[in-house]
Amino acid sequence: MALDEAVTQSDSGRYRSVNVALGDRSYDIAIGAGLLGQAGRLTAQNLPNARVAIVTDSNVAQHHLAPLEIALAPDCTHLGSIVLPAGEATKSFYELERLCGKFLDLGLERGDAVLALGGGVVGDLSGFAAGILRRGIGVVQVPTTLLAQVDSAIGGKTGINTKHGKNLIGAFHQPALVLADTSVLDTLDERQLRAGYAEVIKYGLLGDADFFAWLEGHGHEALEGSGEARLRAVETSCRAKAAIVAADEREGGDRALLNLGHTFAHALEAASGYGDKLLHGEAVAIGMALAFELSAELGLCGEDDVKRATAHLQAVGLPTRIDDIPGDAHKAPALVKLMAQDKKVRATKPALILVKGIGQAFIKADMEWDVLEDFLARRCKAR
Ligand code: GLY
Repeated sequence: MALDEAVTQSDSGRYRSVNVALGDRSYDIAIGAGLLGQAGRLTAQNLPNARVAIVTDSNVAQHHLAPLEIALAPDCTHLGSIVLPAGEATKSFYELERLCGKFLDLGLERGDAVLALGGGVVGDLSGFAAGILRRGIGVVQVPTTLLAQVDSAIGGKTGINTKHGKNLIGAFHQPALVLADTSVLDTLDERQLRAGYAEVIKYGLLGDADFFAWLEGHGHEALEGSGEARLRAVETSCRAKAAIVAADEREGGDRALLNLGHTFAHALEAASGYGDKLLHGEAVAIGMALAFELSAELGLCGEDDVKRATAHLQAVGLPTRIDDIPGDAHKAPALVKLMAQDKKVRATKPALILVKGIGQAFIKADMEWDVLEDFLARRCKAR
């Protein structure tokens, strides 16, 4: 769809709208600068008569909680706001139990809704809590990071981590609306923004060569300002994700393409301890570069594709090599073991997302562990 066709004119503002087509659970992703100010009206339009509780974290609350609370009146009844500790550790059974308890204290009923204001941690935990509270109440995702706006807030994956791994306990619970206010991204630090941009690049690399070519020319503009280039990058990414989710909500097939680079990334994140050394988007950037390199080694894509993919990741300051990660935790056998624990690995052979070129990802269901181990051992020796 052309961009102009996607612009929705409303009484008090213009925003772009992408529909996630899931029958009677379909919903819109509204994208625009300053959209937080329309949160009350848009929530009431999508969830008539719902009273709402906001969930956020201590970092996001400083910038965006008060404006969102103000924006709820007069259309939505605000029952209260819950501020969680910031950080991945919050995606735990402990915080899930506390959050559900607070929802019940606030009196949230079946017809009410949760507004998840934050990045992936807040979105995943709040979405899960909303999915199980009174057997499921509404959730509006209000993502405040680029990564959440283009990926985690869309598609209904919710959950928490356990000592066994990330996102191993969870449920699909689709939001009623996603409100992606691109101006809130101005409060992110550059590193966080770049890490989220890795997921934007992912959509070009996995399925849209034209978008990747556009990013090569305009990606810097999307990172630097909240103008047209950023809107277009977010909208095109949301449109790509919406199409994939609509076709395969439960990841029985092509939704797995969204995991391009992620099997490597999850292992690298586990090896580096999920800390500040390596952000998720940075791990995805390295993972995507590795997926292209492995694809070229297997004769599936050309060296030119590897060079182009890697060059753009590097041009915006993202890491592309295991060697770029500070510290020494990344040993090949450990990485392979960590990959084997990835929940997406089925049966005995690992399923990997590989590529036949830029924009041509596919699911390789029958990788040999030995091939993978040898490939990673050589990448680790390149340190
Ligand atoms: N983030 C991958 C997915 O939503 O399937």
